[in-house]
Amino acid sequence: MRTHDDKRPHDGARPHDDLRTYWDARHADHDELASGGHIGLDRSGNEIFYAQRLGTLLTLVGDLSSPAAPLFVLDAGCGKGYFARALARCGHRVDAFDASPTAVEHARAEGGGPRYAVAGLDEWRSPWPYDIVVCVDVLFHVLDDQAWAAGLRNMASLIRVAGRLIVTDEDTADRTTRGDYIVHRPIAAYRAELEPLGLRHTLFRPYGFRENRVGFHVFTRTR
Ligand SMILES: C[S@@+](CC[C@H](N)C(=O)[O-])C[C@H]1O[C@@H](n2cnc3c(N)ncnc32)[C@H](O)[C@@H]1O
Repeated sequence: MRTHDDKRPHDGARPHDDLRTYWDARHADHDELASGGHIGLDRSGNEIFYAQRLGTLLTLVGDLSSPAAPLFVLDAGCGKGYFARALARCGHRVDAFDASPTAVEHARAEGGGPRYAVAGLDEWRSPWPYDIVVCVDVLFHVLDDQAWAAGLRNMASLIRVAGRLIVTDEDTADRTTRGDYIVHRPIAAYRAELEPLGLRHTLFRPYGFRENRVGFHVFTRTR
């Protein structure tokens, strides 16, 4: 039910500041898997959900691991750092950031190699380009189209030529809103933002987890 101080616009979506508050509170209230995973799953369900996606993500990142020449990887919207830590364990040099200070504090306390920061998708700057930028289950929580596009363009700007941007969303032709904090965008919307920046859509790999329709979209920088 909406109350007098409910700032939601009439389409029912949460406004931007409300979303930041939502994520910070969720990271404070839930364990390290439920806070960034599927809130409707129990602990063992989230263990499977995370482990399956990690396996798929690693097949997309590849099996190179060289201490002398590590891959430079960015985990954008890292939550409490599950994927960032796993990528660091695989020998990659990992930067990771999230808009939630609570999530980043938790991730830092876990250690494990990644360098963490509090930042938004459109805010993170880096003195070096990345081989791979991953952004897992973040973009479809960015409801504002301009913020979504700005975040996507910023991530694209951080990738070296022949590097890859791996983002997650459904593989859909239509825009679909679910509840008050999810909007799935068509692949055409991603391509419209990324192709002019030199990123080509090269692959979609579905999660394949129960009824979940989300998967990894891989974009490769060609110029
Ligand atoms: C579903 S969680 C996924 C977290 C992590 N990628 C994972 O899979 O464990 C979504 C995350 O996106 C973060 N987030 C939402 N909007 C963001 C934005 N504009 N910039 C950076 N992080 C954002 C939230 O704080 C939250 O940690």
